[in-house]
Amino acid sequence: MCGIVGYVGRKDIDSVLLVGLERLEYRGYDSAGIASILDGELLVRKRRGKLRVLDESLRLNPLGGTIGIGHTRWATHGDPNEQNAHPHVDCNCAIAVVHNGIIENYAEVRSRLQKEGHVFSSETDTEVLPHLIEKHFNGDLRQAVVSALKEVEGAYAIAVIAESSPDTIVVARHGSPLVIALGKGENFIASDVPAILPHTKNVIYLKDGQVASLTRDSVRIWSPDGQEVSPEVKRIEWEADLLDKAGYDYYMLKEIHEQPAIMESVLSRRLSPSGDVNFENIGLTKQEFVNLGRIIIQACGTSWHAGLIGKLLFEELLRLHTEADISSEFRYRNPVAGGDTLIMAISQSGETADTLESIRIAKSKFLKVLSICNVMGSSIARESDGVIYIHAGPEIGVASTKAFTAQLLAMALLTLYLGGIKWTINDELRKEMIEELRAIPQKMRTILARADEIEALAEKYASVQNSLFLGRGYNYPVALEGALKLKEISYIHATGYPAGEFKHGPIALVDKDTPTVAVAPQGPVYRKMVSNICEVRARKGKVLAVATEGDDEIKGCADDVIYVPPCCDRFSPLLTVIPLQLFAYYVAVKRGCDVDKPRNLAKSVTVE
Ligand code: F6R
Repeated sequence: MCGIVGYVGRKDIDSVLLVGLERLEYRGYDSAGIASILDGELLVRKRRGKLRVLDESLRLNPLGGTIGIGHTRWATHGDPNEQNAHPHVDCNCAIAVVHNGIIENYAEVRSRLQKEGHVFSSETDTEVLPHLIEKHFNGDLRQAVVSALKEVEGAYAIAVIAESSPDTIVVARHGSPLVIALGKGENFIASDVPAILPHTKNVIYLKDGQVASLTRDSVRIWSPDGQEVSPEVKRIEWEADLLDKAGYDYYMLKEIHEQPAIMESVLSRRLSPSGDVNFENIGLTKQEFVNLGRIIIQACGTSWHAGLIGKLLFEELLRLHTEADISSEFRYRNPVAGGDTLIMAISQSGETADTLESIRIAKSKFLKVLSICNVMGSSIARESDGVIYIHAGPEIGVASTKAFTAQLLAMALLTLYLGGIKWTINDELRKEMIEELRAIPQKMRTILARADEIEALAEKYASVQNSLFLGRGYNYPVALEGALKLKEISYIHATGYPAGEFKHGPIALVDKDTPTVAVAPQGPVYRKMVSNICEVRARKGKVLAVATEGDDEIKGCADDVIYVPPCCDRFSPLLTVIPLQLFAYYVAVKRGCDVDKPRNLAKSVTVE
């Protein structure tokens, strides 16, 4: 939520900041703004709406300078208008701040500052920061930032520039991500790696409580106790060309189509030719895994849906008691968890505030934490005992697609790994599972080759107002995921249910205008799904079924069918979710929605 960037070097500030902000626009697109220092004067430009509005204004009338900061906003406090857009400035317009996070005690700080004579011009929580820095400024910008931050509570990643220090950017973080990128004669800061990837691959992940100061030739970092520390420089694996749309209209469509290649590359990276599973930094010893009695999965949104499937895998194949818990709920109760419990955090971004807090709670109870993340060096990855990277590459579309299937694959491989340690998977089953997994990429390609059929169906259903999604067993979470995809990008109301629960209330919603999407591949619950489909049809409801190739019977009871290749029940979600991703995508396009930037959403939910 909200993206911040900063640059100090020799290049033209307008274009460097705009390129960075464009890469971060998925974090919020209510407004955008930049500030720079030119000839000792602080200049600010901000605009309501998407980045292109700011871009147009800067093209007509550039700001100029070679040092600056920028922001793309997902509004929390105050309307998404120009006044509330970042950067925010102090009374003299000599200090500018961009901020990602929430200052929780801003109302109290603001009224104190107002009594001291500070004049505010926005409704935001952020604006207290430039005024506090102004108040504490005594010739040293970093010291003023440190003193200001002592007066605020909440989460932040901030970047500050000031007329008094025209060569320096000061940054600080507590709870929100911030990465410093090292160039030659230039340095960058950003909320997330994609913003700096076109420039350099050498980065420093600022840790919570640290403050840093950047000039074009130096980066200095101080720990929370004020000691200067030597930075740990990491190298990013992602290639910059992964950030292009590669000819697709939207990132979401590109990311859907990337799934077979991701499966292939992860399988060849993690699975040896003889079928051994390899994880680099799993964080627990084999003995600790043997002693494991319970897993609590922590996740939100799509990652939680993946977690629900992980629960089924771990229970079926490892006979391990597993819960998949929504982090925003887990963190506010006093969960019961003993020493044999593993907390497994699933997060694409690795920065989701609730998931991060849930692992902090777990660690405070001395529980081991294993995370499944996409973004390298993200907070959740760093704070966990072990991490399994899903290697899906940057996911830019706000609606998560390839991360979901890559999370499922990571858990399938973990199941194989643990099945070997815990002796719950015999050789025959192991061989069968590996064969099934190795066949997945090709089967995914078969589904993607039917995109035109799915597009035609999307046309047929695009004008509905409400919809229902049903599934059972391994495909119940797929029904939840299909409903989430549709509602978040097309704004059609969609609700997913376990099909057996349908008769306990939701069936009342069925009518001729409310279609049901039924995820019904061959498997142990297939017959039950067919009965549920018949019940919907008997009430004049239209049914779009996702079924297994060769299933002619379903044609007789559903209005429309999308076929997926045959697959074992436990890995079928890797296939059945793809038609639902494509269906949501095409429906949203037909409805004229901005697929990659759905209203009210941001990709990385770094506030509660
Ligand atoms: C939906 C979606 C969200 C995320 C959720 C968790 O398409 O993208 O529901 O899955 O915000 O995000 P991560 O996985 O980054 O923790």
